[in-house]
Amino acid sequence: MPVSYILAKGAAMHMENFRFLSSTQIIFGRGSHHEVGPETGKYSRKVLLHYGGGSIKKSGLFDQVTASLQEAGVEYVELGGVAPNPRLSLVYKGIELCRKEGINFVLAVGGGSVIDSAKAIALGVPYQGDVWDFFSGKAEAQTSLPVGAIPTIAAAGSEASWSCVITNEDGWLKRSYNNNINRPVFAILNPELTFTLPPYQTACGAMDILAHVFERYFTNTPHVDLTDRLGEAVMKTVIKHTPVVLREPENYDARAEIMWAGTLAHNDLVGTGRIGDWATHILEHELSGMYDVAHGAGLAALFPAWMTYVYRHDVYRFAQFAVRVWDVEPDFRHPEEIALAGIARLRQFIRSIGLPVSLAELKIGREKFDELVAKCRMPNDDTLGKFVRLTRDDLRRILELAAE
Ligand code: NZQ
Ligand code: ZN
Repeated sequence: MPVSYILAKGAAMHMENFRFLSSTQIIFGRGSHHEVGPETGKYSRKVLLHYGGGSIKKSGLFDQVTASLQEAGVEYVELGGVAPNPRLSLVYKGIELCRKEGINFVLAVGGGSVIDSAKAIALGVPYQGDVWDFFSGKAEAQTSLPVGAIPTIAAAGSEASWSCVITNEDGWLKRSYNNNINRPVFAILNPELTFTLPPYQTACGAMDILAHVFERYFTNTPHVDLTDRLGEAVMKTVIKHTPVVLREPENYDARAEIMWAGTLAHNDLVGTGRIGDWATHILEHELSGMYDVAHGAGLAALFPAWMTYVYRHDVYRFAQFAVRVWDVEPDFRHPEEIALAGIARLRQFIRSIGLPVSLAELKIGREKFDELVAKCRMPNDDTLGKFVRLTRDDLRRILELAAE
């Protein structure tokens, strides 16, 4: 396989200087969602209650949340209908509604899509221009309404992250906006709320959690032992407990492990002091924007291909990943074989939890590969990714590797 990407490593000699802010108050445990009323009441007397396509009504969570709000004297206006890969049009609707109703707090109850939609509404209400300006890079947000979150899926980590990912139907561009003001003021994490997740969503969530660590783990920054180990702990936890929850969806302990892993994978603790990569996420966002596939499924198809394409850049890091995370037998004379065995185990794991390991399995053919690559933002001198700086040709080759 030709390797055309730029092989120069970063010049860093030490752990990077960093600032770490994880301002979201975490309220974790059984029954914790009943605390939503008093918690929300600390910020507002009138809130937008934002949710998705109905899972929270079916499970009874909607009634429990509204009862808690009412008991605490918090008025709510509801806006449901957030679709996976949340759409800009609903964000506009939410902004209008908040302005009309004089609402100054957004409560998100649902998956990462609901939380991101809530964050975007919260950004848009105080902003005079078009909220898409933040996603297109035209403007930086100075302020936002506070957001509270009750996640019902362990996946995106949006409940404590600085990211907000929205799809603009005009061109089907899926874009993220990162800013510390996006971090929810509180996140109520009750693992019981994830019992009703279908196996596919559970597996997609697990894949996304792993991917958030991969993006940070594959770095050129040296002397990051602590965060290597923290990332490995998150990955091993997900690898151990995902098969358990797929067998026993109501296993509280395993659901709890995965839920907390999901938050820690993406509140940036495991990224402190190191430069992450993020090429696969940016490529996947365009993929799920165009094809409306689940983000975790897109990552499952792309990540092994990315790894196969770039592992030669730092065979030892991939060998470490194989040995420490996937328990590959260390054979010190053949690091490349160890590295490849680690990637093979990741593929096996993805398959074992019922996710696609190729784009063909997602019913995505080669027809639009060029369009997909052309859509990608290339932030660093027309390259994407920091571990390895990929050109558009490299991205095309990665898609080819992921194709079948
Ligand atoms: O809409 P409802 O009816 O609630 O059903 C949802 C949806 O169909 C369902 N679901 C959620 N909780 C459930 C449940 N079904 C039964 N029982 C429950 N307890 O699951 C489906 C998927 O929901 P979604 O919110 O789309 O999933 P996820 O949490 O994986 O979020 C994915 C979105 O987050 C973005 C992704 O790109 C994608 O748009 N991301 C956001 C990030 C961030 N803000 O930090 C980082 C990530 O890298 C990611 O990009
Ligand atoms: Zn993700």
